[in-house]
Amino acid sequence: MVDKLLLGQVLRFEGDPFVDGPGAARHDARGGVLVRAGRIAAVGTADDLRRAHPDAKPVDHGQGLILPGFIDAHAHYPQTAIIASWGKRLIDWLNTYTFPEETRFDDPAYAAEIATRYFDLVLANGTTTVASYCTIHPESVDAYFEEARRRGLRALAGKTCMDRNAPDGLRDSAQTAYDDSKALLDKWHGLDRLSYVITPRFSPTSTPGQLAALGALWSEYPDCLMQTHLSEQNDEIAWVRSLFPEARDYLDTYEAHGLLGENGVYGHAIHLEPREIDRLREVGAALVHCPTSNSFIGSGLFDMGLAGSRIRVGLATDTGGGSSFSMLRTMAAAYEIGQLRGRALHPAELIWLATEGSARALRIDSHVGRLAPGLEADLVVLDLASTPAIAQRAARADTIWEALFPTIMMGDDRAIAATYLAGARH
Ligand code: GUN
Ligand code: ZN
Repeated sequence: MVDKLLLGQVLRFEGDPFVDGPGAARHDARGGVLVRAGRIAAVGTADDLRRAHPDAKPVDHGQGLILPGFIDAHAHYPQTAIIASWGKRLIDWLNTYTFPEETRFDDPAYAAEIATRYFDLVLANGTTTVASYCTIHPESVDAYFEEARRRGLRALAGKTCMDRNAPDGLRDSAQTAYDDSKALLDKWHGLDRLSYVITPRFSPTSTPGQLAALGALWSEYPDCLMQTHLSEQNDEIAWVRSLFPEARDYLDTYEAHGLLGENGVYGHAIHLEPREIDRLREVGAALVHCPTSNSFIGSGLFDMGLAGSRIRVGLATDTGGGSSFSMLRTMAAAYEIGQLRGRALHPAELIWLATEGSARALRIDSHVGRLAPGLEADLVVLDLASTPAIAQRAARADTIWEALFPTIMMGDDRAIAATYLAGARH
């Protein structure tokens, strides 16, 4: 197949902006990305790439900004149809809206319908990889992976295990959680671009026996990720304390059952004790910040200082607790939460979190998340003047950061000029 040369503005990172500052980014006002057989073959200035690759087919995106596709490190695709449900905090929100909806995923046709709708929405928002929770039903996992595979997406997911404090029809057991998860893992993990993630929902909905069964499964497949929720809301933390009186803290309920490790991915992690932070850093676990969810459900303000403190941090929508499918909207919410904590996140940090930061959190950074030779060509092209309000602000910009920040703060799916999956335009 002939090489493709995408032309436009190009922004890439040669370091971690949380460690190295915004200078970790390189901007080419007229740059290019050479795509060969689904991968990035070269990145540079348009002139250099054209000269070196005269036979490549140019695709000119003009002033469009070429970035790695966005990576949503924590989402619940089964909650697509109940996004933006009014008036509840976490536990009531789960019981009132989420659990009744998730009960419907025993129907494979419904699961397939929502999986299709979900991937339409995330791709329209420039998201090329998602790590999702499914429901307790194996059918919900099959529907997700079948749809992701059909579209050629790199995708991660797992059966969400619960054997207590959930309604009839939405509980498995320690044994079926283990058996179903193992069967799904054997079926999907490593197939094409898919990865299985061992997924206990959170400590309140798993008995110690179920947590231990999933810990045992993880020890059999230590290269798999394990995802769960951690310290999202104060009522939830008090509930965990009453359910696990012997635990030192929330994190300990996972550690005591073999569910803490360097391939662990912990969503929210807002109200952490100093011991929990030290332990997460010590084992090399990853955290995922879900800012639209944290304000929507009223959970609290994540400490982004953790990102610069040798803890991997990804960024995520947490749909449908999160109120948007857009990683641009999610970056804006992260900025706002940073401001409320006295730390203005730089646009370089926001873009990095939504791409390489999430890729590192999910341990897929050798495949996606960066514009670098050898990586898979999952790309998004942003229109930095997608609405009159954004265009008039960007017109005043003197730097790429000033040109980009209005799109981060005010942009949505209208800012997505093009999306590429493994080099193919979506
Ligand atoms: N904690 C346990 N389950 C969920 C969920 O579905 N969404 C959010 N935001 N938090 C959770
Ligand atoms: Zn979640």
